[in-house]
Amino acid sequence: MSGKFYITTPIYYVNAEPHLGHAYSSVIADVFARYHRLFGDDTFFLTGTDEHGQKVAEAAAEAGRTPLAHCDLMVQRYKNVWEKLNIGNDDFIRTTEERHSVRVQEILQRLWDAGEIYEDEYEGWYCVPEERFWTEKDISQGNCPSCGREVTRLTEKNYFFRMGKYQDWLINHIKQNPRFILPETRRNEILGFLNQPLGDLCISRPVERLSWGIPLPFNDKFVVYVWFDALFNYYTAPQSRGEDWWPASVHLIGKDILTTHCVYWPTMLKAADLELPETIFATGWWLFNQVKMSKSLGNVVEPLAMVDKYGADAFRFFLCREMSLGQDASFSEEALVKRYNSELANDLGNLYSRLLKLVHTYCEGKIPSRESNENGKEKRGIDIARPFLASARLHIDEFELNSALNIHMAYVRGINKFVEDTAPWKTGKTDPEGTRYNLRIALEDLATAAYSLWPIMPDKMGEILRTLGIEDPLNIPEDTVAMSLPDGYAIPEKAALFPRIKLEIPKVPETPDIKSVDNLVSIDDFRKTKIQIAKILSASPAPKSDKLLILEVDLGDEKRQLVAGIAEHYQPETLIGKSVVIVTNLKPAKIRGIESNGMLLAADDNGKPVIIVPDDETTPGSVIS
Ligand code: MSP
Repeated sequence: MSGKFYITTPIYYVNAEPHLGHAYSSVIADVFARYHRLFGDDTFFLTGTDEHGQKVAEAAAEAGRTPLAHCDLMVQRYKNVWEKLNIGNDDFIRTTEERHSVRVQEILQRLWDAGEIYEDEYEGWYCVPEERFWTEKDISQGNCPSCGREVTRLTEKNYFFRMGKYQDWLINHIKQNPRFILPETRRNEILGFLNQPLGDLCISRPVERLSWGIPLPFNDKFVVYVWFDALFNYYTAPQSRGEDWWPASVHLIGKDILTTHCVYWPTMLKAADLELPETIFATGWWLFNQVKMSKSLGNVVEPLAMVDKYGADAFRFFLCREMSLGQDASFSEEALVKRYNSELANDLGNLYSRLLKLVHTYCEGKIPSRESNENGKEKRGIDIARPFLASARLHIDEFELNSALNIHMAYVRGINKFVEDTAPWKTGKTDPEGTRYNLRIALEDLATAAYSLWPIMPDKMGEILRTLGIEDPLNIPEDTVAMSLPDGYAIPEKAALFPRIKLEIPKVPETPDIKSVDNLVSIDDFRKTKIQIAKILSASPAPKSDKLLILEVDLGDEKRQLVAGIAEHYQPETLIGKSVVIVTNLKPAKIRGIESNGMLLAADDNGKPVIIVPDDETTPGSVIS
């Protein structure tokens, strides 16, 4: 069923260069937008830049430029990076554009006229050198938490938005709409936050303190608080185009901007009598050596460097593959190269080049026709493509990008296995017709995989599809991709899609102490293992095994199935509801044909497995470090 899909990224501050954290939001949004285009939805994808406020004004002053000149320069950097990353946004809004500011002013005037905004005194702790207010709980021993200098008590006239009066309404809305804030942990966080009384929001800054902002239409001695200006971009951009996209389907945001999006924004919309977005989805952070990547910490990964080294597609693939949407993940170039080599070069790239070659050997280099080969045999291509596409779609609808990729890669491995099992090199001479049939099927499966991976790797998957005679994936309906391969289409004999990469990352020298003792791992190696608390939801014996139990566990943001060898010592029913410790970033494994996504940790007590449980009630998903 096709519909309408409007997705946004946060608009980026132009006080710093784009880094991997920013690129992530844009890549993910682009991937979802492309999926919805494939699904046939009318799609609008918006991104842009947040250009007002103190931080930008300061960065401009530091660079010796006017704020606007600074913004003009920085915006271009963002646009360049997005272009290199193949981000196909439909619009790019800058909050300094008139189409935005006039609409923000209109709304402000409306809210002022309706009494939703009022004038009052603001009293707080002011840091003169930093030119900013702090609340009582921010300051430490009378000093500014940022620069450490003394703060003074200051009273200032300001304008306030009556946010507090919407508290009960907002709680209600969140409770009644389980998909309004996702993932659930973030929803609970906001509900927890709303347990405290919600105050009104100061939405102005006097021009003498900060002039870089949109003037209040009812008092030009003030500019509007940057968040009040920025959040409205999601509404002003489509309005300015005269297009009817509002309300948004999804605002993708980072978890650090949860309150502004889940508390300020809905109350602002409600006051302005506008509809609320359907979903606000908060992603986790990319960490580097366990801390958030950020410019101020000097630990940023530059997206352009990664694109230059590995290509946009491989980088996009890695971002989607490695992070479970909503949770934190650590970035490592080594992990990127490993993923690339095993899944892109080996599984997908090899399949592609192997098939091209086989088609040249056994089908004169042309796509064998479907009809002539069917002979009443099983139509494997279509039969497995449909359920595959359907379950991929379910994961996309649930924002489970890395699970979607799990099934994609399993599908690709399945095609490789099909080729192995049907062994055209053995049957080519004895059964040419059957061989051609099998190759047709393998090509159909490959086209299906490329089609469904296209939103993640538009360049390379587009290349596979074009080689197979499909010009534009957006022109074919999902269900017919397997049938869209043109019979007799001539394909090249060779293509190197993902050449293997040699890992060339300078190794951090280990300390001599550690080097000299066997069996010691460095802290970095240890940290590669992700260990988390999980709650057991169900437990059942694995078929035909005395030792294995199949467990379904809750990890807070996701549920997983794993297989554990504890059946001889634990009754399944005694395990349900128990919190246990599991390793969660192992590659999925098949144990006796059952998929296991994680490893239950247990002590080996003279051959008897004893599971490890936390000492206190612990939230599922908590990371053990
Ligand atoms: N300008 C505001 C957003 C206003 S939206 C109306 C802002 N900008 S930002 O440039 O600081 O951040 C933009 C996005 O990048 C945020 O969602 C933020 O969470 C994300 N990231 C910044 N660093 C990040 C990581 N290290 N990892 C993942 N995303 C992070 O906030």
